[in-house]
Amino acid sequence: MKILITGGAGFIGSHTILEILEHTDWTPISLDSFINSEPRTFDRIKDITGTEVKNYALDLRNLEDCRQVFEENEFAGILHFAALKAVGESVQKPLLYYQNNIQGLLNLIDLQMEYGVPHHIYSSSCTVYGSAKELPVSESTPSGQAESPYGWTKVMSEEILKDIALSSESLNVLALRYFNPVGAHSSGKLGELPKGVPNNLVPYITQTAVGVREKLTIHGDDYETRDGTCLRDYIHVTDIASAHLAAMKHLLEGKQRAPFDFINLGSGIGVTVKEAVDAFIKVNQVHLNYAIGPRRSGDVAAIYADNTKALSVLGWKPIRDLDEMMRSAWKWQQELGRQSL
Ligand code: NAD
Ligand code: WQD
Repeated sequence: MKILITGGAGFIGSHTILEILEHTDWTPISLDSFINSEPRTFDRIKDITGTEVKNYALDLRNLEDCRQVFEENEFAGILHFAALKAVGESVQKPLLYYQNNIQGLLNLIDLQMEYGVPHHIYSSSCTVYGSAKELPVSESTPSGQAESPYGWTKVMSEEILKDIALSSESLNVLALRYFNPVGAHSSGKLGELPKGVPNNLVPYITQTAVGVREKLTIHGDDYETRDGTCLRDYIHVTDIASAHLAAMKHLLEGKQRAPFDFINLGSGIGVTVKEAVDAFIKVNQVHLNYAIGPRRSGDVAAIYADNTKALSVLGWKPIRDLDEMMRSAWKWQQELGRQSL
């Protein structure tokens, strides 16, 4: 049974391919243009699993190019990870983000419908909740809010998928709203490869510890949280990956009641920036140069998930704790050394 993974060379797509190879008999086929990744990811996957994964190095913005993938394969379902994801860049280049994330999705759905692929798992984000007033954030928390063009592409994509799924006799869509995916495969041979200077906390921590960056700046310690630094829901990328297997099985077994649904993927635990930094230092016994700086514009003080729907609907819950996230992230950074994209 073939599953199409768009964005299979990326951070979450590649870890999901590993989970598929390690725990199912499905054949993952990737479509990734490498706009934010590198072909070497597939060598790393082969190194870990012994399996060569087929990738089509195509851009989803070009529908006719991508037709080849559907002509050559019959898919049981699609895991759609491919998107651009840098919040700050999306503010500078909104057109690029709308073209890539929205046009890419429209083309994919167009082909999916034409070739009769029934199941679609979509990579959504906690960004659709914007600045939520009540915590934890559950699926009944009002969404449809965003703070950036990137965030709006997630809100709009969910709406597009909902409308199309509701009007179709045959399409089932499940949007998974990730909180903050971090960490790396337990082998240390696969992890996140940020382009340029990382925006996200954990790659910034590991790059500082390895000496690529001089110092981590903690963006603000005057928030209304237990230690004044922002609170987030960090979730191990391998747990995110395993949720995709559970989600795809849920659709394949015909268990989803409505044509469109959405589920939070978080640990359910709020961790402050300071606590994340301390955990990194403690589990890895390394020095980390850091200082408190001003707030970063656009940051919400606190957000974390109510993840009970994922357990009740998918039978999924995260099993890797913060220490494991920090241990694996550091193992991967050591494998990578000072390399970045
Ligand atoms: P990533 O950048 O590591 O992976 C995305 C992959 O998609 C990259 O390999 C990139 O080359 C590819 N891609 C992008 N546009 C493409 C196009 N038009 N055609 C073909 N390939 C294309 O990102 P990630 O962290 O693995 O994120 C995967 C998905 O999860 C994205 O949709 C992202 O918005 C979503 N998400 C990520 C996070 C996070 O913090 N990492 C949180 C919530 C949601
Ligand atoms: C986490 C915390 C920073 C870097 C982003 C997207 C969101 C979703 C997940 C895709 C914040 C602080 C960070 C640094 C710091 N992605 N920080 N120093 O902003 O919660 O979420 O990724 O959908 O949409 O916005 O993640 O890792 O950037 O920041 O102090 O050098 O770490 O201020 O409080 P964020 P992050």
